[in-house]
Amino acid sequence: MGRIFSGVQPTGNLHLGNYLGAIRNWARLQKDYDCLYCVVDLHAITVPQDPKELTANTREVTAGLIAAGIDPKDNIIFNQSQVSGHAELAWIFNCVARLGWLNRMTQFKEKAGKHRENATVGLYAYPNLMAADILLYKATHVPVGDDQKQHLELSRDIAQAFNSMFDVELFPQPEPIILETAARVMSLRDGSKKMSKSDPSDYSRINMADSADDIAQKIRKARTDPEPLPADPSGLETRPEAANLIGIYAALSDQSVDAVCAEFADASFSDFKGRLTDLAVANLGPIGDEMKRLVGDPAEIDAVLRDGAERARALAEPILREARNAMGFVQV
Ligand code: TYM
Repeated sequence: MGRIFSGVQPTGNLHLGNYLGAIRNWARLQKDYDCLYCVVDLHAITVPQDPKELTANTREVTAGLIAAGIDPKDNIIFNQSQVSGHAELAWIFNCVARLGWLNRMTQFKEKAGKHRENATVGLYAYPNLMAADILLYKATHVPVGDDQKQHLELSRDIAQAFNSMFDVELFPQPEPIILETAARVMSLRDGSKKMSKSDPSDYSRINMADSADDIAQKIRKARTDPEPLPADPSGLETRPEAANLIGIYAALSDQSVDAVCAEFADASFSDFKGRLTDLAVANLGPIGDEMKRLVGDPAEIDAVLRDGAERARALAEPILREARNAMGFVQV
């Protein structure tokens, strides 16, 4: 059995992109892999966070993972800050990764924007912490959305560089698992931007905990174009908003984009949006209800996180010892 590690930041509402691009797949993979799913609060603080909101978001994201069907007994669900090995291995990787490698990371450039000098050192070193997350458990597979692909490649480079610097075969090369449909769900307001927790407009995304009315309204207002739906995917090439909505429908109904185009050939957007709303509400409604129930019981969530952190620490400790040993640290 391979081992999976993946993470999600507790920085706001979980949305349909997180769900379709990552979390739904995490739930599906649990039967074939030994899985660790992590709420990455150490990654969240690479940009300023309000402490109270960070606490609430950490519990809400944990609730989202459980509500989406990830079983916390069969899998390990925990928050990153509670297993100190993440920070320790990240420091070690800070001393393995090269500035030149990090300078190529597009996400840093996007997030730091024009105010690069003001960005935290943590934001710059963010991908090294990601590599530490994965390699701390010698994870073999990492299910992520398309936006994390470059970070995953860096994790592979770091694993290889560590092994060759210290002449060991300690870290495996983690393989990304990236879906074909919904690897990149776009904003409902602008088909050229990805759906994101940080978009100031709540109309740009469908949140996992949105009510049926909110979902209906957001889909009704989603940007489209005046043409009817095409009969096959070639008609979507220059229509990013249409491509996005059809992609979401395909992912939610577990069909190919081809099949959805064939079903809705020449339909109007208003008919299609009605069907998409029904499908989204049927999929997300029960998850949102369960999330709300769990958020009302923080003790239950904290018990899951506590148990997960204990089990994660037990897996990490021998691997950390191997790493310290390879580098020549005296372990007393
Ligand atoms: P984060 O919190 O931004 O997103 C969590 C997961 O959701 C995916 N995702 C999307 N997929 C499709 N369409 C979208 N619009 C969309 N938005 C987000 C992301 O690709 C991700 O899989 N750095 C990571 C968290 C992380 C991690 C790790 C992941 C930390 N350590 C180790 C894997 C392995 C992040 O910020 O994800």
